[in-house]
Order: sequence, then C-alpha cells, then structure tokens
Amino acid sequence: MELLEGIETRQSWRAFKATPIPKDILRRICRAAANSPSYTNTQPWEVAVVTGKKRTELSKILYDLTDANTPPNPDFPRARDWPPELEKRAREHGAGRFQAAGVARDNEQQRKELQLRNFEFYGAPCAIFLFLDKALGQWSIYDMGLFTQNLILAAHSFGLGSCPQAGLANYPDAVRRCLGIAASKRLLIGISMGYPDPEAAINTYRSQKVAPDAFVRWYS
Ligand SMILES: Cc1cc2nc3c(=O)[nH]c(=O)nc-3n(C[C@H](O)[C@H](O)[C@H](O)COP(=O)(O)O)c2cc1C
Repeated sequence: MELLEGIETRQSWRAFKATPIPKDILRRICRAAANSPSYTNTQPWEVAVVTGKKRTELSKILYDLTDANTPPNPDFPRARDWPPELEKRAREHGAGRFQAAGVARDNEQQRKELQLRNFEFYGAPCAIFLFLDKALGQWSIYDMGLFTQNLILAAHSFGLGSCPQAGLANYPDAVRRCLGIAASKRLLIGISMGYPDPEAAINTYRSQKVAPDAFVRWYS
C-alpha cells in the first residue's frame, strides 16, 4: 500500500471478525512502530499485546466495571471544558455513531449496549495497551501519539483495522493488575485490532473531517 493512500484510507473500525492475527504480523507492526520519532529519542512506549485467554479475561473485567457504573479513574483525565467548535464535532460524532448502529438517542439501554461494545474490543481478537513511565512529561505523551498512529497505519498496510479507545484506559488499576504491570507505569490508551467486519452496520459510519482551509494559515 502506498503511504499517502494508507494515511488517507485509514479509519477507526468498530466491529471485527474473530479471525486471529498471525503473531508474525503483530511483531512486524510493532517493529514498524518502533521507528517512530520521539523526544530526544527516548522511545517511551511500553506495549502490551493482549490476545487469547488474557484478552477474554481483561475484556470481562473492563466490561463488568463499566456495566456496574464504576466511576472511571483514568491516569490521564479528560478535559472538562472543550472549545465550542470541538464540542460540536464530538456531538456530531456521537450522533453519527448512534445513527449507524440504529441506536435512538434517548434510548439509554441501547446507548449503554453500544458503550459496552468498547470493552468487548468491538469483537477484535487483539487489544493493545500502551503505557509510559509516570516520571515522563508531555512530550512523551506526544511521542505516544506518534507511535499509536504508526502502529495503526502499519496494521492498515496488512489489511487490519483498529480503533484507539480512551475508554479502555478508564480503569488503569484493573488493567495493570490483570497484566502484571507496575504501578509506576501509566496507561494512556487501548487499541482494538483485527480484521474489520465490513457487514456490520456500525462500520458504515465515517467521521467527518474538517478541510485544511479551516485550520491552516498560509504565510509567505
Ligand atoms: C485519543 C483517542 C481516543 C479515542 N477513544 C475512543 C473510544 O473510547 N471509543 C471509540 O469507539 N473510539 C475512540 N476513538 C476513535 C475516534 O472516535 C476516531 O478516531 C474519530 O472519530 C475520527 O474517526 P476516524 O478514526 O475514523 O478517522 C478515539 C480516538 C482517539 C485518537
């Protein structure tokens, strides 16, 4: 796959086939992402690739915590107030997903079911959790974003889909406990990965993108 085509055709997928990902492909993807740029080449990423029984175990833990309405306690809290323009995009995104999934906005039960799909990793056979040391600062979080995108694009080049999910970092203590990760490592995000299910209604949803004219200023 040509690089520009890969960047422009990547999307988040929210339903996957159960087909496992061959381990050598997962290794290849991690190797590609290892080439990401990072602040003074510190390479802060610590990666847990979770498949098989461990995936089932972790999915159940996160699902049950969410189902029980346990208050999330993420290592990286969400912003409280968004600039109005961004908040509008987030609302439109939510509405678009509900519509594609056939969820009525005022149907709490259906909304909860859709939310809970996050913790089934949307059916993906693989979930990847990214950690970084708690001593690190904001540049390292930036590095993690670059790493994530490269991981996702490398996966895309193998016909794999993915969905980065902040929701998977809602209960970091439970994830650390399940995976045997030290308390000094902060959980940034989880990424569901697998072969996309093109038949699933939710996968007909496409997020709307702002055209460059809205965010680029040109100087000469
Ligand atoms: C930091 C971050 C957190 C995200 N969290 C979630 C999530 O918890 N659940 C989910 O379904 N999608 C999540 N997404 C996917 C976004 O909704 C998606 O990237 C956005 O709508 C743009 O769509 P696209 O990826 O298809 O271009 C997240 C993406 C990012 C980058």
